[in-house]
Amino acid sequence: MKICLATNNKHKVDEIRNVLGKNYEILTLKEMGCEEELPETGNTLEANSLEKAQYIFNKYRLACIADDSGLEIMGLGLKPGVDSAHYAGPQRNADDNINLVLNQLKGINDRSAVFKTVITYIDSYGVSKQFVGIVEGNILEEKLGNNGFGYDPIFLPSGFTKTFAEMVQEEKNSISHRSRALVLFHQFLSDKVGM
Ligand code: IMP
Repeated sequence: MKICLATNNKHKVDEIRNVLGKNYEILTLKEMGCEEELPETGNTLEANSLEKAQYIFNKYRLACIADDSGLEIMGLGLKPGVDSAHYAGPQRNADDNINLVLNQLKGINDRSAVFKTVITYIDSYGVSKQFVGIVEGNILEEKLGNNGFGYDPIFLPSGFTKTFAEMVQEEKNSISHRSRALVLFHQFLSDKVGM
């Protein structure tokens, strides 16, 4: 089964290929010949994920998936959320984003947070369905670890003693928001298509 993936991000492509297995032929945007930036004009992860998938489906009329992820911090009113990638500005710099979050959290007691991924699947008939994966945790007061990306060094997942940035990739992938959403998506496809 062929599925077009609305990203060229190598980590995401690898993780998705890994979870879905060999029965699925995953095509990246590059492999589809799609060069343009995908629209992301929504105010929620759900809206942006749907917008990207819809854009690809309208263009190619192929089954496709898109994902949108972000960090929601309770003490900051669920921010940075949909603005996670560019929270501190258009330079999209992870250290700047982390420093802004840590400054905003000064004096705030509730440092609980979730990483959330919303995957939108649109089948070849144009019918869409969303899958949400969440991992709960807390925001530390300083960075720990050098692995991963984005907010990983300040995110301590609940029940663990290491931040995402102190975990090796396999360890993080086994509990991550993205893998949880992907597993739900894979389960849905398996039930539907029997693959
Ligand atoms: P995307 O929608 O997966 O590209 O994620 C948007 C932004 O959310 C990223 O640029 C990161 O700042 C943040 N983010 C999403 N997933 C993770 C993660 O697993 N670790 C750290 N930061 C993440």
